[in-house]
Amino acid sequence: MPSPMRFLAIASLFLAVSAVVPPGKQGALDQPVDDTPAPTPDNDAIADTAGQVNQKSSVPVTAVPSDNVPATTVTALDGDLVNATVASVVDSSSRRRKRQSSQPGEYVEIFYPLAPGVHDASIEGTAYLTYTVVNNATYNIKDCLAFCDKVDGCEFVNLYYEFNNELLDFVFSEKSNLKCAAYGDIHTAAEKTNFGGQASYPQVGNETVPLTYITQSSGWAAKDLTDPATPEGFSLVFGPTGGANNAPGYMGFAFLDRYDPEACAALCNGRGYDPVGGVCQYFNIWRAVVDGVPTTYTCSMYYLVADNSTAVNFGQGDLVVTLSRGYARNSVVIDGGFEGFTECDDFCFDTSYKNWVGTSQAGGDDDATIFFFNQYAHTGHGSGLLGAAFGDDSDSGTLTPAQPLKTKAGRNYVVQVFVNNAFSGAQLEAPAVVNVLWNGKVVGSVKGFQQYTPEQFNVVATGYDVLAFEGGAAPAWSFIDDVFVALL
Ligand SMILES: *[C@@H]1O[C@H](CO)[C@@H](O)[C@H](O)[C@H]1NC(C)=O
Ligand SMILES: *[C@@H]1O[C@H](CO)[C@@H](O)[C@H](O)[C@H]1NC(C)=O
Ligand SMILES: *[C@@H]1O[C@H](CO)[C@@H](O)[C@H](O)[C@H]1NC(C)=O
Ligand SMILES: *[C@@H]1O[C@H](CO)[C@@H](O)[C@H](O)[C@H]1NC(C)=O
Repeated sequence: MPSPMRFLAIASLFLAVSAVVPPGKQGALDQPVDDTPAPTPDNDAIADTAGQVNQKSSVPVTAVPSDNVPATTVTALDGDLVNATVASVVDSSSRRRKRQSSQPGEYVEIFYPLAPGVHDASIEGTAYLTYTVVNNATYNIKDCLAFCDKVDGCEFVNLYYEFNNELLDFVFSEKSNLKCAAYGDIHTAAEKTNFGGQASYPQVGNETVPLTYITQSSGWAAKDLTDPATPEGFSLVFGPTGGANNAPGYMGFAFLDRYDPEACAALCNGRGYDPVGGVCQYFNIWRAVVDGVPTTYTCSMYYLVADNSTAVNFGQGDLVVTLSRGYARNSVVIDGGFEGFTECDDFCFDTSYKNWVGTSQAGGDDDATIFFFNQYAHTGHGSGLLGAAFGDDSDSGTLTPAQPLKTKAGRNYVVQVFVNNAFSGAQLEAPAVVNVLWNGKVVGSVKGFQQYTPEQFNVVATGYDVLAFEGGAAPAWSFIDDVFVALL
């Protein structure tokens, strides 16, 4: 005979079980409705930080001519000024590809040189990339534009003579003082603010050192600002427009030293997980123009995918939003939200539909099912259930996408799934477990009572990978939703 204490425990467990109406009978999900609005961008912080950065530069007097463009740098992160490479602020698993170079293009002259001999000024502007010197037997526009054609990301060149630069006059092999500076953005005569005035020649005795000065500074822009390549693993959602997103699911922002969607994609992929919303699934990149002058390039990250309908921040004060584009991160899971299950429009469930397949163990009944019921879903109306839908056995079930995933062999992916182990309450759900399987191998587990929470697992693809979620043992049911598998 059981002790009174043990008897009580058994009795209360039995009571609790019998009190739980199973999911198959439309029992209540133990998850309060979350009314907290998802965060939207802090536009004041962005504008304030834009007022602090200085991303303008011209060719340093001592720079060596080079075709090499240094990597994009991050100049601010979430409101703090920094000077960092993209790689240094993201997980090492994120990778960068080489940018596509622009097509040899037509150019238009944006501003003209002053007369020979008259002191002029070179551009001090954003997105300076690198420079070369071209043969100075003539005012050699042709070679300068050809240089722009071969420099990654070049959209604009500034051609000018620089006098009294010892390196140009005596040290560098080219023996030319005709500088051709490449930029990733277009600049106007209003930005001709570098008049030289630096001492480059050595001091000899008590003679006055001649200072550098500039003549005949002209500016040439690629006729069309080339459409940037869409970063791998992303799709262009909208743009370019003059509106930045004011959308929910905002995770923070970075400033880049040039308009570089690839760099923004790498920041999104490497962004940490939001505890409520999970991984970054969308970014909005735009150029801030202050008083008519390009000032910085904002990369805003989101855990919810936005679109043009919320791209309604056109700027504030002197700051104008330009070249705004939105990109969504692609998931290789078709219908990870179970929204394609539409056998009814209120409440129903099934063991499979075209995008997902549920499997029960031998002798088990409805151990893995797909539900149409918005009260069980993390978002929308679809969700997956592990554990017998009517609670008539305690076997685990398996849910798997109907098709293997179209992954790229050898690449790293993140698997994200929202898991709810809360249906029957803390006590009965304590033993709940959802195993995440990648090609049949358990790569992670979600154990114990929890309401919908995003969970992440890193995997390596072999190509046509099979993802599965296995678990549930009624009354320790588990719901899954919003399955997302993306390149890192
Ligand atoms: C950023 O850091 C690099 C490397 O340390 C340095 O060369 C560069 O001048 C710095 N840029 C700014 C704007 O401080
Ligand atoms: C070309 O540049 C070299 C080196 O700075 C300079 O010595 C020379 O006078 C320049 N020639 C012309 C035609 O400007
Ligand atoms: C420069 O030095 C020389 C002798 O070394 C002297 O004769 C001359 O007056 C000096 N010039 C000036 C401007 O100081
Ligand atoms: C969406 O984009 C178009 C340009 O493609 C623009 O004209 C329209 O105003 C945008 N809609 C919103 C709500 O911003």
